[in-house]
Amino acid sequence: MAKRTTSQPAADPSVLLGTFITFEGCDGAGKSTQAAMLKSRLDTEGKDAILVREPGGTPIGSRIRELLLEPGASVAPVTEALLFAADRAQQVKDVIKPALRKGKIVISDRFVDSSLAYQGVGRGCGLEPVKNLNDWATGGLEPNLTVFLDMSVEDGLARVAGRELDRIEREKREFHENVRYAYSMLQRIYSYRYITVDATGTPEMVHQRVFHEVSKII
Ligand code: TYD
Repeated sequence: MAKRTTSQPAADPSVLLGTFITFEGCDGAGKSTQAAMLKSRLDTEGKDAILVREPGGTPIGSRIRELLLEPGASVAPVTEALLFAADRAQQVKDVIKPALRKGKIVISDRFVDSSLAYQGVGRGCGLEPVKNLNDWATGGLEPNLTVFLDMSVEDGLARVAGRELDRIEREKREFHENVRYAYSMLQRIYSYRYITVDATGTPEMVHQRVFHEVSKII
């Protein structure tokens, strides 16, 4: 085995070589479908990609997911923000950072921006405390690219109307309008990593739009 000399530093475990792509958007915009389609396209192209989702991508996360999304549960806004951040902290530590360290492409169905939009603005917790909380939870991890799937609240809610809705999806229209407004702010604040994709049309049409943008950075 090669002996390490002072001119050969040890591999720095904090260096993240991979690419981190997040999908964001209001309920019904098609994030899960598009994230899965991107993952299979990257697989086909021989890229090493993994797909994670929030909340609930780890064993403890799936228990947190149940607490968060059970219809009828009484959850204070700050509790909600803390639980989403707790789920995220575990997933970042156990799944996302190890994959990025190995140079993989990590596709996440929602990330910190969801908490900024839903808890920071939708629930009125404020952007700054939710951002600080999540910086702590993730060690300041930021995506290389965020795909925002843009669709009107009305069209999104019409899409999810046929299925069993979770506690947050059941919120009134005004809440979802505030979340959409929040995303428009986040697009401006983080314009260097945001791309906005028209989420209307067939899944294949939207996928082509997404892939066109993603292929510019990978
Ligand atoms: P969602 O992505 O819709 O999950 P699924 O499609 O698998 O049901 O997420 C569930 C809900 O949780 C959704 O209404 C958005 C909300 N949410 C937050 O309020 N804050 C967050 O930080 C995250 C990740 C999700």
